[in-house]
Formats: sequence, C-alpha cells, structure tokens
Amino acid sequence: MTTYRIAPSILSADFARLGEEVRSVVAAGADWIHFDVMDNHYVPNLTFGPMVCQALRPHAVTAAGARVPIDVHLMVQPVDALASAVAKAGADLVSFHPDASAHVDRTLQLIRGEGCRAGLVFNPATPLDVLEWVIDKVDLILIMSVNPGFGGQSFIDSALRKIERARKLIDASGRDIRLEVDGGIKVDNIRRVAAAGADTFVAGSAIFGQRDYKAVVDAMRAELAQA
Ligand code: DX5
Ligand code: ZN
Repeated sequence: MTTYRIAPSILSADFARLGEEVRSVVAAGADWIHFDVMDNHYVPNLTFGPMVCQALRPHAVTAAGARVPIDVHLMVQPVDALASAVAKAGADLVSFHPDASAHVDRTLQLIRGEGCRAGLVFNPATPLDVLEWVIDKVDLILIMSVNPGFGGQSFIDSALRKIERARKLIDASGRDIRLEVDGGIKVDNIRRVAAAGADTFVAGSAIFGQRDYKAVVDAMRAELAQA
C-alpha cells in the first residue's frame, strides 16, 4: 500500500510569523514542509533562501521530537551554490529544475554528497527525458501542475498524464523514488492525482488559505484513503 505524504507549502503562510506557521502545520499533521526558493530570475518572484531555512529548521519538529523533513524546491538559476547552501542550512530534500542547471548529473551528485535526497522538477511543458540518464541518482520526481512562481493557480490537467508516465519510469527503475506533485492541489482533486500515481502532495493556498489547517489535512487524507 502506498504511503501518502502531504507537504504544505509555506509560500502561502504568513511570512511575518513563519516559525509559528511551520509549527501549526506540523501540529496539523504535515509530513514534510515544502520550502519554495525563488530568485526573480528563473521565476518572476522572490521568496527566501538558506538563512530562512536554517531559522525554520528547529520549528520543523513534531511534539514527540521527530524531525519533519524540509523539502526545498529550488526555482533558481544557477543551481549549485544555493543547493549546497540550503543543504548546509538543514534541508532534507533538495529539488531543482533540470533546465536551470548546466550539468544536471553533477548537481544531483552535489546534493547527495551533502547528505540530502535529490529531486528533479518538471515544468508543465518540460519532458521527462533526462530521467532516462540520471534516474539512478534521483530520490524524488516533482511534477509541476502549474507554472512555477506563484501560489493559488489552477491545476493544469496535462500533469496527470505526466504523473502516469513518471510512475511507469519509477516502477521500471525498481528504485525507491517519491513522486510529488506541486500546484493547484485541493481536497477536491487530490484523489484523482493519487490515482494517476502520485504519492506526495504539495498544497499551499488550500491549507494556509483556511483557518483550520488540520481540517484540510484530514480531509485530504480522507480522500487519499479512498484512492
Ligand atoms: C509554485 C510553488 C508551489 C506553490 C503551490 O511555484 O512551487 O509550491 O506554493 O501553491 P498552491 O498549492 O497554492 O498551488
Ligand atoms: Zn514548490
């Protein structure tokens, strides 16, 4: 049976109270904390980086003291220096867009060399082709179901076909690779996305846009239980 993971994106959190927001969403049952790094170059928006990751690291812990992984999604170009910096700042997973790195294989090695799990992110119009050559060095595949840069956009349906294709590649590889989806995930579509083969779900506005975070996470889990 698939173990599903829900990764709230703090892009939609209250930036004036980020530590508290991370603690609230962990208390609500977040499995991972999704951390969107944007550079106003690869994407037309600017968020936060390694120093904020380091400041939040002590907040991403359950009441029982277990570490909640910080899932860093790098929307930056170039990639390598910031990948190393977020790894040193306490990231557990570091993903990047292959089209933003001049040497994808080298960047994957660099992230794993820092002791993190490494991910590749695919924009809505980006093919999965590079996976043919580097899947042995990938721990996470992140399918974008919106164009990166902003929260609160609508799910792009072609992502479902791409998820199905990525699931086939993962199964054929026989490796333990998470298949994550990012953008426009809501209670009312998460089951469909899981049925296509995803096992990890980023949700920003769906969670932080509501008063009761736990109610949303619970409703998502109830949907996944029927997937
Ligand atoms: C968009 C980011 C997402 C964003 C998703 O570029 O990568 O992680 O927070 O936001 P929602 O869930 O609101 O679509
Ligand atoms: Zn993201």
